[in-house]
Amino acid sequence: MLSKVLSFGLKGIEGFPIDVETDVSNGLPGFDIVGLADTAIKESKERVRNAIRNSALSYPVKKITINLAPADVKKEGALYDLAMAVAILACDEENEIKNEKKYVYIGELSFDGSVKKVKGILPLLISAREAGFKEFIIPYGNLTEASFIEGINVYGVKTLLETIAFLKGEQEILPVQSCKFENVTYANKYGLDFSNVKGQKMAKRALEIAAAGGHNLIMIGPPGSGKSMLAKCFPSILPDLTFDEALEVTKIHSVAGELDGDKGIVNARPFRSPHHTASTVSLTGGGNNSKPGEISLADHGVLFLDEFPEYTRHTIETLRQPLEDGVITVARANATVCYPANFTLIASMNPCPCGNYGSKDKECHCSAGQISKYLAKLSGPIMDRIDIHIEVENVTYDQLKSETLEESSAEIKKRVDKARAIQIERFKGAKNFANAKMNVAQTKKYCKLDQQGELLLRTAFERLKLSARAHDRILKVARTIADLEGRENISANHIAEAISYRTLDRKYWN
Ligand SMILES: Nc1ncnc2c1ncn2[C@@H]1O[C@H](COP(=O)(O)OP(=O)(O)OP(=O)(O)O)[C@@H](O)[C@H]1O
Ligand SMILES: [Mg+2]
Ligand SMILES: [Zn+2]
Repeated sequence: MLSKVLSFGLKGIEGFPIDVETDVSNGLPGFDIVGLADTAIKESKERVRNAIRNSALSYPVKKITINLAPADVKKEGALYDLAMAVAILACDEENEIKNEKKYVYIGELSFDGSVKKVKGILPLLISAREAGFKEFIIPYGNLTEASFIEGINVYGVKTLLETIAFLKGEQEILPVQSCKFENVTYANKYGLDFSNVKGQKMAKRALEIAAAGGHNLIMIGPPGSGKSMLAKCFPSILPDLTFDEALEVTKIHSVAGELDGDKGIVNARPFRSPHHTASTVSLTGGGNNSKPGEISLADHGVLFLDEFPEYTRHTIETLRQPLEDGVITVARANATVCYPANFTLIASMNPCPCGNYGSKDKECHCSAGQISKYLAKLSGPIMDRIDIHIEVENVTYDQLKSETLEESSAEIKKRVDKARAIQIERFKGAKNFANAKMNVAQTKKYCKLDQQGELLLRTAFERLKLSARAHDRILKVARTIADLEGRENISANHIAEAISYRTLDRKYWN
């Protein structure tokens, strides 16, 4: 007897349909899986056999062959267990299974017949819906994630036995109710608030610009000056995630198995701060288990690299491609996959190994050689990709003790939101959503300068020996500053402020 049911596989964060074709025939009893299956799938045999037996269902003592089609795409993981078990049971008419072809099955089986939660259900369902599939049977534990996708029917099952009873029409299961993204609110998404940061006007201003235009930023300052604290406050002034952004972020977190159990969808911008001892692979993703890395988990959010020069040179250089393109391509055993990596980089560093170089009141004990070795980790091309460079100084005692109320994150966010709204209107129909991501043509179109601005930029370009990339970054930052003021035209003072965020190049990397 022959049967065929549907499942879905994953490549990167995109899903593709898989036909699970099963043949049960008389002959030497055995179980074979063909069609480019990895070892985890080969192990499915044991899980499927035991799950069927331990559910008191009849496992055929016959020759079973399962073909996973298309045969030229590598299948990984345990996603197809449920589909295989249903396909085997559907081969036997005595099981009276009806409608098995109506559904797409996704789920891992335990030996006892329970259906276990799987990683990546959201990207699978989104791709399947795009491909026109409508009815799904998935693990009960994945239902919250699934509930955000509208226009499909998703049935959650806890056991194989329950699945079969449902397919026979003996048990009713209702499809999960869809849940609107707007209704998902979690109090205090970010925890930290700028109202707790005393003083630091310059740094706050720069972070506001970075948030408004999606610009990368680096803070240079002595230990204890509040760099880490400022960075942790940064997400609280970013615009809210849109539903489409949330879906993309959730896809990535879902594939990485990092999705918070009962949340279902990521509704706050991610803030990732991998330690400098983290391996390059853990940052970029890929490797044996082909998981997205930290830079992809930071998609549409913030990647905070504290003590930036402490990361290996290799790690830092690997950031060049994603910083430019917003995606990372990782090579794996027999394929390459692309993961989105559209993050804002916030980096921090001390000016020298001891931290006091350039300080007004503390002495630096580092030799010139030590300092240049420390700074040399950050190459020109990397610093070029960071639009805003700022110095953070220690707050004074009086500032720290001051009773004056500092502006809250919510107040700052209002201005950021306004500036973002202008950008969304500007880039309608285009792919980018913020000034920092403008391409050459867009920069030319939206960053026209008047005579005074032009002159200022020319002088700075020649004096500071800026690169062409740095020149474009200045224009983009100036665009954002003008947007924060609600001005259509960029004027000389906007350019002047944007240039001021590049002068550290000269101070430290001359
Ligand atoms: N402007 C400020 N207002 C209030 N508290 C501050 C401020 N700056 C620093 N602090 C306090 O000092 C602590 C240390 O700051 P933080 O860890 O952010 O410094 P840092 O610049 O990252 O230092 P390091 O270079 O050693 O990592 C903060 O946790 C906070 O309690
Ligand atoms: Mg710190
Ligand atoms: Zn020093």
